[in-house]
Amino acid sequence: MSGEGFGANPAKTTASKAFVNGLGSGVAWSGAKGDGAKGRMFSKEFQVSLPYINFLINGARDNSAVLGVDLLVDGKVVRSASATEERGSTGMEWRTWDVRDLEGKMAIVRINDQSEHGWLVVDDIRQSDEAKSLPIDASVAWHESLRPQFHLTAPRGWLSDANGLLYYKGTWHVFYQHRFPGSNYVVWGHATSTDLLEWKHRPVAIPSGTGDSNFSGSGLVDWENASGLGENGEPPLLLFYTLHPNKDKSRKCVQHLAYSVDGGTTWRNFAGNPILKTDDYFDRDPGVFWHKESRAAFLVLSLSKNNTDRPAAEYGIYRSTDFKQWELMQKLGPNGWFWECPDMFEMPVDGDHARMKWILMKASSDYIIGSFDGKKFIPENDKIKLRWGGNYYATQTFSDAPAGRRVQIGWMNTDKPNWANSFPGMPFNQQMSCPRELTLRGTDAGPRIYRYPVREFEQLRVKTIALPSRNLPPGENALAGVWPELLDIEFEFDVRDAKRIALRIGTEEITYDVMAKKLNAFKASAPLAPDDGLVKLRVLIDRTSLEVFGNDGACDLSGVFYTTPDKRALSLTAAGGGIGIKKLAVHELRSIWRE
Ligand code: FRU
Repeated sequence: MSGEGFGANPAKTTASKAFVNGLGSGVAWSGAKGDGAKGRMFSKEFQVSLPYINFLINGARDNSAVLGVDLLVDGKVVRSASATEERGSTGMEWRTWDVRDLEGKMAIVRINDQSEHGWLVVDDIRQSDEAKSLPIDASVAWHESLRPQFHLTAPRGWLSDANGLLYYKGTWHVFYQHRFPGSNYVVWGHATSTDLLEWKHRPVAIPSGTGDSNFSGSGLVDWENASGLGENGEPPLLLFYTLHPNKDKSRKCVQHLAYSVDGGTTWRNFAGNPILKTDDYFDRDPGVFWHKESRAAFLVLSLSKNNTDRPAAEYGIYRSTDFKQWELMQKLGPNGWFWECPDMFEMPVDGDHARMKWILMKASSDYIIGSFDGKKFIPENDKIKLRWGGNYYATQTFSDAPAGRRVQIGWMNTDKPNWANSFPGMPFNQQMSCPRELTLRGTDAGPRIYRYPVREFEQLRVKTIALPSRNLPPGENALAGVWPELLDIEFEFDVRDAKRIALRIGTEEITYDVMAKKLNAFKASAPLAPDDGLVKLRVLIDRTSLEVFGNDGACDLSGVFYTTPDKRALSLTAAGGGIGIKKLAVHELRSIWRE
């Protein structure tokens, strides 16, 4: 033992809700002397003699060296697990290390609390023949066993909604809803990329100054310096967010402006905040764009009716000429549809700039197509579905992207209600989707948005296994023996007389149901009609997520899953009849986190 964090004696198992599931009468708890007290506990040296080490853990999420448990061999950390509770208290959970490769070695377990702000509780560390939970390991930063290898995650702590997405001078800026270890409030995390592949993590862009949270919003380049905030001839970059008063219900959410005059490196709050006050407590998520033709800015706000009457929720469209003073121009709804994180932008149909349409998208990425003249948005159709279930939410497109591109990122949320304890044993929680290019294409039903991984993704391919075109008889595995971890699969087939085509990745299954003309994955299904008898699938498989795109992006499904590398066998089979494989290329991808 070192430090005083763990107190002199075990804590009573019954002493706190956080110790629920603890075994026996006592637990090792580093909170006895308060959140800030630090300490370490060491086991006696022991010989690794069984395949697994299991233990119970609970506590604040951070790097394991700060709050977590390590296994040391010859003084080196060979396994680790972070405490992973985001907030609230759901009791202790099992964590498991697979230590088969360490058999016979002498080892020590160390429990760490080197944190100023949180504690952890650990119990019942034991070798076993049995894994009590999915084996994990967080000992190698950025290559932790459940860390996505080509999806954006926060270095440590919580990440959700994509915020303030903008492009400026060769750099893509992503901000996100973030709770870093020790923060009780949501702030805007920040990462940048020059290729939409590799991300550089930046300091928090908008910290929480007063204990309020900075909820979702958008960003853009104020090219004309309409805000007057620019300095030295550089256009200011503007971020719009919702200041959320947390538990103080006597105050309401208001909309704030932050800006950068150094190309997005540092951010300041606008001195005249708030820029917009509305009547209700929970109005939020300003989606702002500049309308060149009328030389005015527009802000779409989610008027959520305090989250209590969702069918009555509306979007309000506000207008400004300086980004600082806003006037309500139009309300859309209620029709049970308008919900969170609005994103409004213009797109050409089939790339034809004479046929421009306006898109109004909500958090799920379902959308309405319409026209907009700087005075009124006029919907031209009923709402259209783009999200068919699975894990994809709070999407946003980049403003100011080069060559008129519309690139979208969404939060690939894990399933509720287990948000807090998702990514067990990891210092981070949640991940973003791959960046996706949106195009608007003419179809028999009218213009429809297609969504597909950005072309940059092909640069991650390090090796390709191109399998021959052939007839695949029912029951045969077209991918037998193919087993890389990070994959980009291109698969095109003629449905012939097959009834069902299944691509399996360990426990996960993507299927195509020929009769129903549906693509299924993650308990969700999306309509996908063969094109001249052909179905095309593109599947991105990361360590803990899977994204599948049908017919060049006519539909997609995404989801989060956890496995260990030894449980990721691939199979591709047809049932009820054979298919004709037209193309089957399996690309192995590299990690975006370089050593
Ligand atoms: C969507 C959302 C937004 C809000 C943010 C808070 O996921 O509920 O409406 O601004 O999350 O983190």
